[in-house]
Amino acid sequence: MLIGVGNDIVDIDRIRAVLDRQGDRFIERILRPGERAYCERRHDFAAALARHYALKEAAVKALGTGFRYGVGWRDVGLERLAPGATRSKPRLTFEGGALRRVNAMLREGEAVVADWSLSDEPPYATAYVVLFATDRGTEPGPRAHSVAPS
Ligand SMILES: CC(C)(COP(=O)(O)OP(=O)(O)OC[C@H]1O[C@@H](n2cnc3c(N)ncnc32)[C@H](O)[C@@H]1OP(=O)(O)O)[C@@H](O)C(=O)NCCC(=O)NCCS
Repeated sequence: MLIGVGNDIVDIDRIRAVLDRQGDRFIERILRPGERAYCERRHDFAAALARHYALKEAAVKALGTGFRYGVGWRDVGLERLAPGATRSKPRLTFEGGALRRVNAMLREGEAVVADWSLSDEPPYATAYVVLFATDRGTEPGPRAHSVAPS
């Protein structure tokens, strides 16, 4: 059953300007260490950060909370395999306040399945996120990923 949907659009140049002003403080607030390492490997760090920013906003809209009720930027994010590992779609995972919110959205015996998509066409980056509740143990494989605390 569909339990949440969220989308977002971000102006990459606005993110670049905040990055120029705030630097590390901004990066630390928004990105998990693994996400930061990934963005640093991309040719345009600000654009990669903007895509993650859009994804995180889409995710908290799907949760229905926004960045309130104890849900922080780093509580939602993408987990990737180490560089060089088999290429597969990164998993959207929830921690802390976001994980508590996910669990509150589920009924007994259910698990969440989260899927997402990102795109950019400068100056904009967009993202959307969908959340499904499914019976625990029946989560589908590679196309949509069940959420594990990380
Ligand atoms: C939900 C949130 C992430 C959206 O932020 P945004 O990018 O500024 O706004 P967008 O234009 O993309 O989206 C706004 C729309 O999201 C929807 N929305 C608002 N709160 C929502 C929520 N809790 N859950 C789902 N959707 C929500 C509404 O439709 C809203 O449009 P409306 O005000 O015309 O009804 C943001 O409002 C939020 O969490 N704010 C609280 C914390 C905060 O202010 N943090 C600032 C960090 S820099």
